[in-house]
Amino acid sequence: MTRRFAAIGEGPLVLVLHGPNLGALGRRDPGLYGALDLDQIMERLAKLAGELGLRVEGLQSDREGELVEALLAAGGRGVAAAVLNPGALAHTSYAVRDAVEAAGIPVVEVHLSNVHARERWRHHLAIAPAAAGVVAGFGPASYDLGLRAAADLLARRT
Ligand code: DQA
Repeated sequence: MTRRFAAIGEGPLVLVLHGPNLGALGRRDPGLYGALDLDQIMERLAKLAGELGLRVEGLQSDREGELVEALLAAGGRGVAAAVLNPGALAHTSYAVRDAVEAAGIPVVEVHLSNVHARERWRHHLAIAPAAAGVVAGFGPASYDLGLRAAADLLARRT
């Protein structure tokens, strides 16, 4: 499955990428991931983007290659920064890590859950060394904090 969320707001464009299984948010283990679905998370982010003077656009894909393509295309079409929840690809995907490196824009990795407090295999973060930083464990607020971090990075660059 792929879902796209059209750009909203004005200012530098931040791409919010959601990886595999995140389309099921809201009904997928709400005790762990929270009760908000992806539409509600994107609505919150659009509101916050307005406060921060940013434009946000979203993509959720269950396919690794689609996330790689979105990252590689980002810089060339004017995306200033990205917020990325890679889902389980966070623990395995060197292809997404290479794409984050190649993207040439700051990428903030976010996780709803505190992956370090969960199973051992979730402690390894394959993409994180290429990210500007990682936010994990705050439920839907992890995305908000990720967007604030992206705004901060962009403000420091200009
Ligand atoms: C997740 C954590 C991953 O370990 C998991 O596979 C997910 C969601 C999070 O947001 O907490 O799909 O990225």
